[in-house]
Amino acid sequence: MARSVSAYICQSCGAQSRQFFGRCAACGSWNSLVEQAQPAGRDGRTDRFRQPTESGGDAPAPKRSTPIQDQGTPPLARLDTGFSELDRVLGGGLVPGALVLLGGDPGIGKSTLLLQVAQAMAGHCSVLYVSAEESAQQVRLRWRRLVTPSLQEKTSASANRLPREEPPSSGGGLQLLAETDLDRVLEELEALRPAVAVVDSIQALHDPNLSSAPGTVAQVRECAAALQRLAKHHGVALVLVGHVTKEGVLAGPKVLEHLVDAVLTFEGDRFASHRLLRAAKNRFGATYELGVFEMRDGGLAQVTNPSELFLGGGEPSSGTATIVAFEGTRPLVVELQALVSTTSYASPRRTATGIGTNRLHQILAVIEKHLGLPLSRFDCYLAVAGGLQVDEPAGDLGVAAAVVASYRDLILPPDTVLIGELGLGGQLRPVGQLEQRLQEASRLGFTRAIVPKGTGLGVSEAALGLQLLESSSLAEAIVGALGVNPAEE
Ligand code: TYD
Ligand code: MG
Repeated sequence: MARSVSAYICQSCGAQSRQFFGRCAACGSWNSLVEQAQPAGRDGRTDRFRQPTESGGDAPAPKRSTPIQDQGTPPLARLDTGFSELDRVLGGGLVPGALVLLGGDPGIGKSTLLLQVAQAMAGHCSVLYVSAEESAQQVRLRWRRLVTPSLQEKTSASANRLPREEPPSSGGGLQLLAETDLDRVLEELEALRPAVAVVDSIQALHDPNLSSAPGTVAQVRECAAALQRLAKHHGVALVLVGHVTKEGVLAGPKVLEHLVDAVLTFEGDRFASHRLLRAAKNRFGATYELGVFEMRDGGLAQVTNPSELFLGGGEPSSGTATIVAFEGTRPLVVELQALVSTTSYASPRRTATGIGTNRLHQILAVIEKHLGLPLSRFDCYLAVAGGLQVDEPAGDLGVAAAVVASYRDLILPPDTVLIGELGLGGQLRPVGQLEQRLQEASRLGFTRAIVPKGTGLGVSEAALGLQLLESSSLAEAIVGALGVNPAEE
């Protein structure tokens, strides 16, 4: 078959050329030419998915505007993914016709998660799993491993529906296609019209009309755009897997992020078992929700009680403090650790994992000024347990208490949580959603909380099951927590 011709379009000025140049001849910018397929080739291959018109002709029927309140269509019903942690991040489930991009480092568990989701969803709707990276045998091997009796119990609705035997039009079942050719994938989607489709991964798909290699910007954009047109037209909820480059951005730069309806990132330490799922963009829900999973032998399991994960456990040690931070709509009890040691450098080292370094610098400055501790002669390290990122100022008091406790080599009472924002003047500022934070701490067995003064709680200490110690300043809170004045040696 004759190759269709590509054009190279400059991303800065839009100039078109038949040949690739390192420098755009029109505007002179470097590396801005990107290969693009010519629209509507004669052989029809580049015109791979056109929305059919009602008249059956080629010309699209003109669309008219309609009043927003009377579209005549009921609101889209969301599809339950079988994983409440994923549903939470998506904003209540998959939306038919929506394109979701799942990004993450290699080996983090994207394929595992999506295969489990596909299996769970196959119980109530038809699902197509397109594996462009792994062969059908490899996926089947993984699938067998995942569909152990324990998983079948969890997703009992889908337990006895095996993917191979299900006819495609039965309204359920999981179909597997191991294919890298975009046209084949589109044909299969067109033929099956599943409710949900997974493409693992978009970088491995290949559009034969483009000469560039799979995974390049032009390929990724063309493949995603063709899939999107089809998904939107047939109302297929499409989940694409996207790889993260060495620089930590989703490969196929920002092009994909603009195209899709939701961008989810799957992160976590490859060497630790838990994984965090977040939404970086979501047209159908909030972006601040967090889903927590744990990688086990039998695949990913949901962690519906994540606070327990972020509590270090074990023997209490100096420099450990517990805070309650909000992740989306959910309070999480999290352990912090600080290490303060005499510096042997000209300027002391300050390293923080899990909170911003600038925030740590600010808290150290407040401690130095208002508690009179000579921290500028000490190195200071801070770590948040479980690889969580605490951006909330409500964790300030906990950070300060951990630093002071490490400096004085004291142990903070393990039954105490610290909540409060530090002002630059050393005052303790009220934080939002205090009641929910305290309820979560109480639920996990904490008995004492140090909180800012004047927060006006609607519930009593007895109802919460917590002893509250209200403080108006950092000094007062630290004395309350440690039982000694840190400034007095
Ligand atoms: P995978 O889903 O292949 O990652 P990705 O698609 O993001 O590249 O996950 C692979 C890792 O997960 C691998 O290191 C092994 C681990 N794993 C388990 O620990 N248990 C399991 O049941 C499975 C299927 C994988
Ligand atoms: Mg994979």
